[in-house]
Amino acid sequence: MSKKLLKNAYVLISADDDVEKMNILIDKDEIEDLIPVEITNKREQGIENVEEFDLSGKLIVPGFINAHTHSVMSYFRGLADDVSIDDWLFKYMFPREDLLESEMAYYGAMVSILEMISNGITTFVDMYMFTDSVAKAAYDLGIRAYISRGLSYDTPEGWKKRLNENIGTYEKYNGLDDRIYIGFGPHAPYTVPIDKLKEVAKLAKKYQTHVQIHLLESTNEKQLYNLIDIENTGLFEVPTISAHCVYADEKDIEVLSRSEVNVAYNPTSNMKLGNGIAPIVKMLEKGINVTFGTDGSASNNSLNLFSEMKIGAILQKYKYGPDKFHVEEILRMAWENGGFALEEKLGRLEPGFKADLVVLDINSLEFFPNDLSKLKSHIVYSVNPKNVYASMAAGKWLYFDGKFLTLKEGEEKIYEQFYNYYKTLENKHNSLNFSSNYNTNDNCR
Ligand code: NI
Repeated sequence: MSKKLLKNAYVLISADDDVEKMNILIDKDEIEDLIPVEITNKREQGIENVEEFDLSGKLIVPGFINAHTHSVMSYFRGLADDVSIDDWLFKYMFPREDLLESEMAYYGAMVSILEMISNGITTFVDMYMFTDSVAKAAYDLGIRAYISRGLSYDTPEGWKKRLNENIGTYEKYNGLDDRIYIGFGPHAPYTVPIDKLKEVAKLAKKYQTHVQIHLLESTNEKQLYNLIDIENTGLFEVPTISAHCVYADEKDIEVLSRSEVNVAYNPTSNMKLGNGIAPIVKMLEKGINVTFGTDGSASNNSLNLFSEMKIGAILQKYKYGPDKFHVEEILRMAWENGGFALEEKLGRLEPGFKADLVVLDINSLEFFPNDLSKLKSHIVYSVNPKNVYASMAAGKWLYFDGKFLTLKEGEEKIYEQFYNYYKTLENKHNSLNFSSNYNTNDNCR
């Protein structure tokens, strides 16, 4: 059966709508129609081959879009909670990342994607190594994904190797199932020189794809480059998501605004690594398209947009005043702004949009009083992942009533493989540390 009818639920079509009771008709991977409950019975007679789901007592909202993460980093959750961003990156992450292998990366991504699906995230934007493994995990689990190879420059050979991997994954996976897309991921202006950023901009234009980059994340970066120089590489002429922008000043905001660069706000990661609060309210005032990202499990430590929305909102209110940053703006950032950044019909539950949605249980305590006019506020400030009843991407249920429906292997097998690889990584790392004790930290790349 190619059609699905989600019946009797309350529906929030978009951040700017009111909650209404209606039925959603889905054809393949798209929303075909929204039908007021009272006339469904009449119209239903004309619909054949429909699989029905009674979702009484539930609220259907657009699927959440995680616009910045590194899914393989699930292995490093809890590894470096109390260190500076430099130590975090150079002392803890890089040495372990050198030991990763492609099958490990697959299981790392699997665990993160399962976490995201059960937390109501139906699209994620990923930057990392082992893009074939991440793309395969996303393909296998049915989530929508925009994936790029993290590119940094060390030697001409190293650069070429990474670019070739990025292009290889593009050729193998881009457009697969109309939900896996491969872009380019220059890591940051302090790890990729200007002429190489120009090369990436040319490639992104040639392949007509998106770019992700970390920009102005930490205070040191402000001294290292000027955003106008990055703009002049041509990188902002393609759809670009720039993660963080914590240290964007007024001039930088002007550049981001005129170049229509999309920004991913990662409040938990920014605060946990001690970087600070991004000027999101100012960016929104200048018309910049801002989305939410979780960043990876090694700096967040959970892949959960409910907590990003709440923490992100509280920080903006602290910085700019409690009358700023309304619930509608916050929900737009988590939904349709993500769709706008990715140039896909996502983040609204309208006919013609992709059937990516989340079902929340409004009979949970976090939703009380579950008065319809209060539900949007509850989603931002009270709801948490345990209130997610189901998640759907591209018209397929990925998660329903506590079960992962797209998992081919058993859940336990995935967790066992993940844990075994985690132990392998730690053992390898410990034995290397032992043999290179006299080397201080020079082995960090
Ligand atoms: Ni990041």
